[in-house]
Amino acid sequence: MLHPDRVTLRTAEEIAGIGAACAVVHGVLEEIRALVAPGLATAEIDRLAAARLAERGASPAFLGYHGYPATICVSVNEQVVHGIPSARQVLREGDLVSLDFGAVLDGWYGDAAITVPVGRASPEALRLVETTREALDRAVAAARPGNRLGDVGAAVQRHVEAMGYSVVRDFVGHGIGRQLHEPPQIPNFGSPGTGLLLRPGMVLAIEPMVNAGGAEVDLLGDGWTAVTADGRLSAHFEHTVAVTGDGPVVLGLEGTGRGD
Ligand code: MF3
Ligand code: CO
Repeated sequence: MLHPDRVTLRTAEEIAGIGAACAVVHGVLEEIRALVAPGLATAEIDRLAAARLAERGASPAFLGYHGYPATICVSVNEQVVHGIPSARQVLREGDLVSLDFGAVLDGWYGDAAITVPVGRASPEALRLVETTREALDRAVAAARPGNRLGDVGAAVQRHVEAMGYSVVRDFVGHGIGRQLHEPPQIPNFGSPGTGLLLRPGMVLAIEPMVNAGGAEVDLLGDGWTAVTADGRLSAHFEHTVAVTGDGPVVLGLEGTGRGD
């Protein structure tokens, strides 16, 4: 186990490697997003993710990780993260489906998540999704040299709580590169000006999980699926972000800049 502060600084070339893995992740996520519709079983999403990944010459980052049994995590409605795709779980109009997906390409890991409404969702559900996406955008903007990890967490927490929602505390973001999870851990809450100093070359997977109700989560009997304790909706977005001298760069999106 690395010392928690032992965060690897990556060269531009290494960051490009991670970016290529992230481009695969985003390419597949966009294909899946286009196919999300009422009637689709979440097991079909897993089959699709595995096939599209293979086409791109990449391997799954999650399959077999601590025994996780699928290629993608699909978490519906009150499921927060790590939902296991199933033939019995069929998407319905108005559901919120979180797709969390990781790829390995040439030994480099990429990780991203999006939450997608199925057909027409309620204004309340869409507001939760938008708030979570905005919280990620604010966290990304805070991931610049000279800032600290607490600034990243505080950016999420401030926005989420101002909207009347809760930040999940039992799961955190993480460094990423040669492994899916590297130091540091990246909480989605914190105090500005505290914690690890951010430096150019750090690569961070930032992933706010936001609950419409309380922050508490329970684990289902499958040992993986986290659900809100109060049964209310949850949303999740994730980007892999490089801290550079020019500021934060979201990896895997077309062009060089920021994105959603
Ligand atoms: N984005 C999630 C994470 O970084 C996905 C991990 S799922 C697992 O924790 F199956 F790999 F555990
Ligand atoms: Co992650």
